[in-house]
Amino acid sequence: MSEKTKLSLQVNGTARAVEVWPMARLLDVIREDLGLTGTKEGCGEGECGACSVILDGQLVNSCLVPAVQAEGADLRTIEGVASEEQLHGVQESFLHCGGAQCGICTPGMVMAAVDLLRRCPHPDEAQIRDGLAGNLCRCTGYGKIVDAVAQAAERAVEVAKESRP
Ligand code: FES
Ligand code: FES
Repeated sequence: MSEKTKLSLQVNGTARAVEVWPMARLLDVIREDLGLTGTKEGCGEGECGACSVILDGQLVNSCLVPAVQAEGADLRTIEGVASEEQLHGVQESFLHCGGAQCGICTPGMVMAAVDLLRRCPHPDEAQIRDGLAGNLCRCTGYGKIVDAVAQAAERAVEVAKESRP
């Protein structure tokens, strides 16, 4: 029988090491070994985006990633999005716009939106919808989520203006 192997990586800015089975999914390691249950499992097949995390700067479905591929990687989960004092702008906008109902999709949506705004700080509606296309929501009809991402982008522009000398 195969044995567990050591996996060392940066998780939300902190060095972590865990022992994982060779075929373990990154999603299970995140939730069960690292204890970060904000990342959700929906389909388990790469279709819903609930398990989205940012791995070495790339948005990935963690249900499809073998955990051993994350050796030495930089992993960002939903727990690493807000600072201790303040929600991320995307999270604040989800609250203001009513972008969450049951909330199962929300962590993955927020990760996808954070990734989109990093790549494309001023997205139009089509770009927002495209950026969220891998994330399914059965509750909101997407309109409020799209509004939330647009508001987060606008707010980021305002904050940048306000902080200019
Ligand atoms: S649980 Fe990973 S994409 Fe659905
Ligand atoms: S809020 Fe329920 S799945 Fe999106």
